[in-house]
Amino acid sequence: MDDCYRIADTSGILTPALIVYRDMVEQNLAHMIEIAGDASRLRPHCKTHKTKEIVEMEIACGITKHKCATFAEAEMCVAAGAKDVFLAYSLVGPNIGRAVKFVESYPDVEFCVTGDHEKPLRQLGEAMSAAGNSIGVLLDIDTGQHRTGLVPGEAAREIYRFIVETDGLTPAGLHVYDGHQHQLERDDRRAAINAEWKKVVAFRDGLVAEGWPVGKIVCGGTGSFPVYAEKDDPTIQMSPGTCVYNDIGYSEHFPDMVFPPATLMLTRVISRPTDDRVTLDLGYKAVASDPPAGKRTIFPDLPDAEQVLQNEEHLVLQTSRAGEFEPGDELFAVPRHICPTSALHKEVYVVSNGELIGTWTIASRDRKLTI
Ligand SMILES: Cc1ncc(COP(=O)(O)O)c(C=O)c1O
Repeated sequence: MDDCYRIADTSGILTPALIVYRDMVEQNLAHMIEIAGDASRLRPHCKTHKTKEIVEMEIACGITKHKCATFAEAEMCVAAGAKDVFLAYSLVGPNIGRAVKFVESYPDVEFCVTGDHEKPLRQLGEAMSAAGNSIGVLLDIDTGQHRTGLVPGEAAREIYRFIVETDGLTPAGLHVYDGHQHQLERDDRRAAINAEWKKVVAFRDGLVAEGWPVGKIVCGGTGSFPVYAEKDDPTIQMSPGTCVYNDIGYSEHFPDMVFPPATLMLTRVISRPTDDRVTLDLGYKAVASDPPAGKRTIFPDLPDAEQVLQNEEHLVLQTSRAGEFEPGDELFAVPRHICPTSALHKEVYVVSNGELIGTWTIASRDRKLTI
């Protein structure tokens, strides 16, 4: 493992631990801004870190726009000083009342959400106007992921019309998330994204021709934001999330996106059950288990170890080097999927220049803060 990840004294770190390397986060933020061309073109998604201190670091770099997926993340962004927050989620049920409360509680924050269906949008509009308020809505566009949103076309246009004409709602633009564009080669990814983008632009131009405002188009994640960065459309705001930390999954998916992992896990050996096995305290309650078993982490200092069994609090490695380990020994691991890994931890240990400098709370791992 690269020496820049070593920590002078790990004795105070309870394992399994998530460790954030603050200097690498700074580097990754600087690289994001470099790719975007300007901090004002970025609207990073906070779902990867869910941590107020990282939002503060973004603000210190000149990033003023923020994206999130939950009200807790939105409140965390505001607590960090954010004044422009986009909750990229369609609100239904009690979340409609939460939106009213959010707008009332934070009147100096520009706040918007997504929508793709008349029924919840009508409820949102009624609730907002009953409270004497209004909320920005970005029409969610489906460019092929088929998770949420509408394809550019007549039905989508009618929903935009509905947003324009409904009291309590303000048309705020389009949301284009394309998490399915996982082509390994940048050129292939660019071609696929641009084919969809053409449809989005034609659709947007049609809305504008109706006299409807389309102030922003919030686009993409880590793999696609360099492609949007190449465009000079002033309404584009890019919303990568994962690259602020990065992980093994994205390093493999997007080899052109060179962001060093800014987090590692620290784990300790708790048992040596057989001559060729080492058991660690790194169960799937500490590291995301959406990647397949056996592939949820890698061990830079033990790359050939096979991950043969993982339970809630145990990870069993099979390795010819097992004899080199004793209970209490430490290993670093890189998570394959950092975003859900963060959500499994109450706090992260923060390292700078090889020294442990404190802990940060992963504040919005909770679904509710105050609203
Ligand atoms: C709506 C939305 N925007 C942005 C992102 C960030 O994408 P990435 O994780 O590729 O950086 C995500 C990730 O899940 C997302 O769902």
